[in-house]
Amino acid sequence: FSAIDVIRAKRDGRVLTDAQIDWVIDAYTRGVVADEQMAALAMAVYLNGMTAAETARWTRAMVASGERLALATDRPTVDKHSTGGVGDKITLPLAPLVAACGAAVPQLSGRGLGHTGGTLDKLESIPGFRASLSLAEISRQLDEVGAVVCAATPTLAPADRKLYALRDVTGTVESIPLIASSIMSKKIAEGADALVLDVKVGSGAFMKNYDSAHQLARALVDIGADHGLRVSALLTDMDTPLGRAVGNAVEVAEAVDVLRGGGPADVVELTVALAEEMVALAGLSADPRAVLASGAAYETWCRMIRAQGGDPDAPLPKAAHTHVVEAPADGVLTGLDAYAVGVAAWRLGAGRARKEDPVSAAAGVLCLAKPGEPVVAGQPLLELHTDRPDTVPAALAALADAVTVSDHAVDAAARPLLLT
Ligand code: URA
Repeated sequence: FSAIDVIRAKRDGRVLTDAQIDWVIDAYTRGVVADEQMAALAMAVYLNGMTAAETARWTRAMVASGERLALATDRPTVDKHSTGGVGDKITLPLAPLVAACGAAVPQLSGRGLGHTGGTLDKLESIPGFRASLSLAEISRQLDEVGAVVCAATPTLAPADRKLYALRDVTGTVESIPLIASSIMSKKIAEGADALVLDVKVGSGAFMKNYDSAHQLARALVDIGADHGLRVSALLTDMDTPLGRAVGNAVEVAEAVDVLRGGGPADVVELTVALAEEMVALAGLSADPRAVLASGAAYETWCRMIRAQGGDPDAPLPKAAHTHVVEAPADGVLTGLDAYAVGVAAWRLGAGRARKEDPVSAAAGVLCLAKPGEPVVAGQPLLELHTDRPDTVPAALAALADAVTVSDHAVDAAARPLLLT
């Protein structure tokens, strides 16, 4: 094979053969196909797409580039993947809840980049928490606690690790077959029997509209079926942040509120809806809402955090500086833009621009009002938290058009959380 022939084939709109796909992914992982050649191929895929069969084969080749975890546990294994949003801390209450329902939840997670936060960044705001675990530690914790939230080991889908970093700098991230194969190769390599996908739709998500999110969900579910994985997908709203907290420690605090029976209604509802899907796919009969109310999920959370070196009772970091944004007028808050709030939290230090950047545990935004709620002019709407007051002007600039107040409620405020 030659990389140039594979690039030309896709450039000219042809369907790649299984052998071409297997060869190019393997050769790229080994450094035989160069970055510039893979970048050209990724652009050709971006422009000309791939069939469902090509996408399935591409995913298979990426899984085969590394190892597939053999999870040693007697419980049924089930995982969740969210395509990413603003204030999306759902993994934090969800993993211990589903574990308390009887499943094993191996939640291999990532760090944040840009306006979306990363689950590991959030958890690392808990004093002592360790995100890097060995395979033996993951298996032991799955058996003993039922839930693990940790970093993916570099041995899982190494082809994707390399390709995703390349796509990030070559304008080739936003391709449904490439996104779907990237997500699913990691999830398949992780070895769970079942997977629930939370495909986000809206300003704060990858997929800005319902049709493209639906296409992505279809592609993800098809790949799962090709690998014998039980998969289902929910499409959920990401036009406004989930819950009231956006950042790291502030999101952990909100997740703990949910686990202790409180917390914002949207976070509770999405946690329970995803848990119901996961429990059903795992073949269990527990009722997640009742398990959450019983306090068992909170107990599992504490055991999970302790098992990973953290202290669930330790105070979380607090920002040195806060700044309040007030409501501009009397009326109903009809819009609070997820993307703008995500960028503001990032500017305040909660996120990173490059993979190597540090994040601030205490930085973030608290949304003191949510769409649909009445507000009066001058009332505090957003509370910005940061250790670096010099970041506040950039956060305020990001929020310039984020807030919409109308003199009467409009339909947008009533957009449902669950879109399917
Ligand atoms: N998340 C991934 O893991 N891969 C993509 O390509 C996009 C989002």
